[in-house]
Amino acid sequence: MTSIDTIEKTALHVLPSLPYAENALDPVISANTIGFHYGKHHKGYVDTLNKLVAGTKLASLVLEEIIDKTTGEADKVAIFNNAAQIWNHTFYWRSLRPNGGGEPPAALKQRIEASFGNVDACRKELAAAATTQFGSGWVWLVLDAGRLKVVKTGNAETPLTKNMKPLLTIDVWEHAYYLDYQNRRADYVNAVLDKLINWGFAADNLG
Ligand SMILES: [Fe+2]
Repeated sequence: MTSIDTIEKTALHVLPSLPYAENALDPVISANTIGFHYGKHHKGYVDTLNKLVAGTKLASLVLEEIIDKTTGEADKVAIFNNAAQIWNHTFYWRSLRPNGGGEPPAALKQRIEASFGNVDACRKELAAAATTQFGSGWVWLVLDAGRLKVVKTGNAETPLTKNMKPLLTIDVWEHAYYLDYQNRRADYVNAVLDKLINWGFAADNLG
């Protein structure tokens, strides 16, 4: 007999829906890139995590709990990587929007000015971090001990495990831009900052 308890314990992680159509970010990020990035890479992390945690104590935990319990655990690297990549990608899709860029909302702009001097300096720091991240990783605007900061993380690493509150992120893995920009990571990052970055999402995360 299948009880409610059993159903909950076998619940699977699901791929969150994209907040816009696959072609909504075109031409900055093409529908082709989103098709692979969301439909293959992001989905792949979800499918792999479900396989890895099936039948383990981690199977009943929500994503953030799995990330918290597996970070730094040598025997759980694959579970951490897939769980964190699910979380990071869901956060990335929401960090972008069609017709983004421009000026941040007033309250966020004030916080940016207090930490970076002005919005342009913040943008430049994000772009510099993105282009200097060696290999795969992520660039983040975070809230850290009351101040806004730009940080970069390698591979699947996330500021969630470093007591920082993510406000927005840019994926700088090659799969995020190679079909559209080949090796020109800086062009991808600058186009995202100019035309897609969702300052409103960062403002909402600031609370
Ligand atoms: Fe990615």
